[in-house]
Amino acid sequence: MSISTSPHSHFLLRKQNQNHFVPKTVSAPVSLPSSRPFRPIKIKCATQIQTQDPHAARAQAQAHAQERVFNFAAGPAILPESVLLRAQSELYVWPGSGMSVMEMSHRGKEFKSIIEKAESDLRTLLQIPPEYSVLFLQGGATSQFAALPLNLCAAATDPVDYVVTGSWSDKAFKEAQKFCKPNVVWSGKAEKYTKIPPFGELKQNPDAKYLHICANETIHGVEFKNYPTPKNPNGVLVADMSSNFCSKPVDVSKFGVIYAGAQKNVGPSGVTIVIIRNDLIGHAQGLTPVMFDYKIHAENNSLYNTPPCYGIYMCGLVFEDLLEQGGLVEVEKKNQKKAEILYNAIDGSNGFYKSPVEKSVRSLMNVPFTLEKSELEGEFIKEAAKEKMVQLKGHRSVGGMRASIYNAMPLAGVQKLVAFMKDFQARHA
Ligand SMILES: Cc1ncc(COP(=O)(O)O)c(C=O)c1O
Repeated sequence: MSISTSPHSHFLLRKQNQNHFVPKTVSAPVSLPSSRPFRPIKIKCATQIQTQDPHAARAQAQAHAQERVFNFAAGPAILPESVLLRAQSELYVWPGSGMSVMEMSHRGKEFKSIIEKAESDLRTLLQIPPEYSVLFLQGGATSQFAALPLNLCAAATDPVDYVVTGSWSDKAFKEAQKFCKPNVVWSGKAEKYTKIPPFGELKQNPDAKYLHICANETIHGVEFKNYPTPKNPNGVLVADMSSNFCSKPVDVSKFGVIYAGAQKNVGPSGVTIVIIRNDLIGHAQGLTPVMFDYKIHAENNSLYNTPPCYGIYMCGLVFEDLLEQGGLVEVEKKNQKKAEILYNAIDGSNGFYKSPVEKSVRSLMNVPFTLEKSELEGEFIKEAAKEKMVQLKGHRSVGGMRASIYNAMPLAGVQKLVAFMKDFQARHA
């Protein structure tokens, strides 16, 4: 505690017989010995802590910038530097509000403007047709594994179809078993989830309420390049796009529901985005908890309960950034270039590095690869970390390495990785 004259040191006190608040410099709430004269103690608040030497602040920012690594994590994952710096500049006071976004009422006009802008920018990015709702929810994509059958199936006996191309679609299928009758129309398990079949091979049920796919398997690095059509003319295509959301243009009208956890491409963990065709809303099974009922969230503009406000704000900043880059057509071009140089390095290594995934369905976002000499994998990860390239270890279920190269991974990060891979090979071949 230190003496200060800042206006922020004032407590707002309600005087007796007054029904309005009066700013007043006050003593801290400590009891003083009655013999001592009253001496107001002023509290130093964070404002003073912030107003430090601007040169010191700049030096600190530069030191932090040098500390930053290339983060190849699968999620939570790298975020655009410009977004982080903007969030930093607005963290303490969101312009015009006098407070941080974290302190705002989710029902106030400031947050309303934030969530509305986030939705509007996302609609522009993905060209979401007006007959679709955008929901900002919580619970991760995992909660959608249950919410989907609860909302899209009238009864637990309804049939639905799942294409199982990796761990995530398998998890979605298993969760659905509790709420409807899911059927696996194709599984890549026998081939270690390295393929997506020609769509004619999907043994779809003509009565299935929906056909579920995972558009990009984060762990196995398998990505749909186009999309199957449900055999049931009244059925809909549903996609988990958690790990390739907003990485390329998507024709939303082909889907009944698209859902994604934010923490890979568009924000921090804690926000789950659902894009749903309006006629699919309002048919939830009776036992559906309110937090899983799309109708409740759609009717309340994602504000039925307290939403993940700060996460939504961050997603909004990312959407703005993607628009500034020229939208998803431009973003996809960058992603293609990054993926191309990484896959070329793997394929051009004479087998030193290997990609297990069939070429036509290799993910632009998550690139798993192995070393021919698997005993060197630990060394590879250790040396890469020393060069400030981190989180390259493959998922524990598959081993090897995985480089996640989401939107926010700069080309320079992939170039550095490729240069390191070549150097490592030269030293260990
Ligand atoms: C494709 C995919 N689906 C679902 C999930 C689960 O997401 P969450 O942890 O947000 O529930 C993940 C998480 O990595 C994922 O990559």
